[in-house]
Amino acid sequence: MAEPSEARIQIERGLQELGEAFRESFSTASDEQTLRGAKAEFLGKKGRLTALLKLMGKVAGDERRAIGEQVNQVKRDVEAAFDARLDELVAQERRADLAAPPFDLTMPARLPVARGHRHPLSLVKDEILDIFNSLGFEIAWGPEIELEDNNFTKLAFPPDHPATDMQDTFWVRVDGAPDDARVLLRTHTSNVQVREMSKHHPPMAIVSGGAVYRRDDDITHSPMFHQVEGFLVAEDVSFAHLKGVLSEFAKRLYGPDTEVRFRPSYFPFVEPGAELDATCAFCKPDDGSRDTCRVCKGTGWLELLGCGMVHPRVLEFCGIDPERYTGFAFGLGVERVAMLRYGVNDIRVLFENDPRFLAQF
Ligand code: PHE
Repeated sequence: MAEPSEARIQIERGLQELGEAFRESFSTASDEQTLRGAKAEFLGKKGRLTALLKLMGKVAGDERRAIGEQVNQVKRDVEAAFDARLDELVAQERRADLAAPPFDLTMPARLPVARGHRHPLSLVKDEILDIFNSLGFEIAWGPEIELEDNNFTKLAFPPDHPATDMQDTFWVRVDGAPDDARVLLRTHTSNVQVREMSKHHPPMAIVSGGAVYRRDDDITHSPMFHQVEGFLVAEDVSFAHLKGVLSEFAKRLYGPDTEVRFRPSYFPFVEPGAELDATCAFCKPDDGSRDTCRVCKGTGWLELLGCGMVHPRVLEFCGIDPERYTGFAFGLGVERVAMLRYGVNDIRVLFENDPRFLAQF
């Protein structure tokens, strides 16, 4: 057998040195980046192994196979050592993370962070609910997708009442429901009256707020808007109670000097029914500001809500004995109060959510 060639000796020596060097270099690498750098130093395009392989050309043909096997073995050793060390470093880092003191979640942010707040409509709605709540009304909730029964029929709307017309209402088709299941987006929060009266026995005083839907769209009407509804049913409730509660409400909402007046009005579910106006909080009767007031248009009065004594038929439909119990109910639009309060004259501004508008609250 021939003497090993000069090139073969050089390669074998190189491989041996390399084999000793990479372990040392990997074990001293203390982070992933250094480790990857060290690997490139051995296996990379400009690395030591590549340099050795350039000598292969000078190796005699019958020696190549043996050398090739040695080269591959070193390559595999380097790869394996690299993987093992990488696992170790990752585990180390993870242990250090876990051992480190936790984040201080209470630390103030470094940049000024814009702080959000509630929408003006939510503020006004909650203010109204709070007033009634403080007068002893419990807060309840009702669904926006409702049966025709709860929205109209049990509130004594005659079947041909204009408000039940398709023009005013969004009907909903419920997949799989029988054809005669009539479902709609509630047109007012009065459905809560029906639901609560059917569920509980008097005495009860309940207030509720939420979104309602009508086919209406202009600068003071939106197809979706919000109402607050309240009612009280007990023995011996009279119109005087309605008047007392709602006058107090108006004072708490618009200020202690606020007066109210009632105008007869019609809603199928109350008898008698009325509209309540409050004195205009935006002008004064005696300093000349009333004549030019654009809010009340010089009348001194602002329409605030609809109300009345719960119709005996409604009590009956809900399983309450109308001979024994009486009650009053009222409903008001939240957007209208908010628009007056904040001097907004186009209802759409309340729903566009332009930050320049919302930032003013
Ligand atoms: N539901 C009526 C409306 O939407 C308001 C109302 C509520 C009137 C309760 C009387 C009593 O206009």
